[in-house]
Formats: sequence, C-alpha cells, structure tokens
Amino acid sequence: MIVTANIDEVRQLRWAVPNLTWGFVPTMGYLHAGHLSLVQLSLAGNDKTAVSIFINPTQFAPTEDLSTYPRNLAGDLAFLEAAGVDLVFTPSDALMYPPGFQTTVSLSQVTQPLEGSSRPTHFAGVATVVAKLFNIVQPTRAYFGQKDAQQTIVLRQMVRDLNFNLEMVIGPTSREPDGLAMSSRNALLSAENRAAAPVVYRALSAANAAYEAGERFGEVLRQIMIEMITAVPQARIDYVSAADPRTLQELDVVEEGVLLSTAVFFGNTRLIDNILI
Ligand code: PAJ
Repeated sequence: MIVTANIDEVRQLRWAVPNLTWGFVPTMGYLHAGHLSLVQLSLAGNDKTAVSIFINPTQFAPTEDLSTYPRNLAGDLAFLEAAGVDLVFTPSDALMYPPGFQTTVSLSQVTQPLEGSSRPTHFAGVATVVAKLFNIVQPTRAYFGQKDAQQTIVLRQMVRDLNFNLEMVIGPTSREPDGLAMSSRNALLSAENRAAAPVVYRALSAANAAYEAGERFGEVLRQIMIEMITAVPQARIDYVSAADPRTLQELDVVEEGVLLSTAVFFGNTRLIDNILI
C-alpha cells in the first residue's frame, strides 16, 4: 500500500497502467466498519482502490467540532493495509488550501434544506474538497455512504453539473448491533449519551413501520419521530424530515422512496441518520 501526501505521486500511480479501473473512497479518517464497507465495495468493483484521509476544515463552521474531531492515522493506515487498499492520499491543509486559494463549488438548491439549514456553509466545503479530490485521483468510480443522504444527493448533482467523468456508487448504512448508525463522531459521546443515542434509529424505524402500516401523511410521520426522540431527555432534536428524495422538500403526502431523516444533538455531538423507504 502506497501512502502519500503528494498530488503528482497520486496521479503517476493512477495513470501508471491507464486501462485499470480505480475505485475511490474519500474519508475524514477515524475509520470504522461503515467506511470499510465502502472500501470493500470498491475493492470488489475495481482493479485498484484509493482512499483519502483528510479532515476538511472548510466543511466545519467555526462553532463546530473541527478541533475535537477524532483522529487516528496510524490505526487507519493499518486498517486499510489489512483490507488490501492500494493507495492512501493523506494531504495536509496547506496542500489542499494553499495561500491565495479562492475557488468554491456551491450548489444553489439541494444544499439549502435539512443539513444546509443548520449548517449553511457545510456543503460548499464538501463539494469543493470532493471536486478537488476527484481531480487529483481521477477515479473510475467513487463510493459514498447512504448515512450522509444529503451529501450523496449534493455530490451526484455536482458530478452531473460539472461533468465529472466517474460513476457514483452509494453504499448502505452500517449500524451497531443496537441500531446506532456507525459514525466517527460516536466516539465523542459520553457513556450516558451513547446509551441514549439508539433512539435516533428507533424513531426512524417507528416512522417507517407506520408507513408500512399505511400512514401517508408526512406530518404524522414527523410527529412519530419527534415524540419518540423527545421522550429521551439526553436528546435534543435539530430537525426531523419526511422529504422528497430528489428535491429534499418536505412532503405533505408521502409515497414510496420518501427520505426519512433526522439530526439530533446528544450533548455537543450532533448525530444524523436516515431511512429511504
Ligand atoms: P466521513 O464522515 O469520514 O465519511 C466518509 C464516507 O463514509 C462518506 O461517504 C460517509 O457517508 C460514509 N459513511 C460514514 N458512516 C457510514 C456508515 N455508518 N455506513 C456506511 N457509510 C458510512 O463524509 C465525509 O467523511 C466527508 O464529508 C467527505 C466526503 C470525505 C468530504 O470531506
């Protein structure tokens, strides 16, 4: 496995044998089984696999958890080596954002609701860094998790709008045995908040079950989630949503394919999760 923080070296390796297919999994590190599931999809679907580890400062607002975001580069590299990854790109902040950097990729519509309403600068940071990573790695396929549903929608739109020559592949959400979606941020939860956090998936599952039982009013599905989550004193709701999966607009009447999603604070840690019905 080659580990490098050098853009020319990435490009050289990528194009050493031009007709090989490359899968690419962008990450911010502190890798868990959810990341690994994307790596496995890439390994199975391509000749070569590249992973990036970069905690992208521009997708964190000044009030957010950039400084406490968990990191463990040595552990991550051992994990990726054991998995059989070919190339790991570990750029510095200065390489990605040198003095004088002034370009931003921003999307006007799908970035606005849900995560965008709570984190107005977040998706411009994500889209900009992923556009840069795509230009550096030039993968055949790129792998993202359904866990970050809006991120997949934003990045698919960016790929269409800017004609990136790659295929987007979305992998399912990996969960802990108690249903909690795996996340690097779970490591930031106190023991008490960790014990309370599975309510997020329980609430999504309850709304899903109501849909399966015939409920079609978006407001009723949102209320089911609100009631379950507010019953847990450690949880503070940021939003609950039953939205159109393409536009992310809230639905009065839902149908197959609706995106149920929520963001919930436990202490200072903000967790997100979703179910696509
Ligand atoms: P990060 O949170 O490290 O996640 C990297 C990838 O792993 C994302 O595509 C995310 O959706 C996926 N992932 C996270 N938890 C998952 C889970 N439980 N199951 C399946 N996949 C999961 O998302 C980012 O980093 C950044 O925004 C990034 C795209 C790297 C841009 O900086």
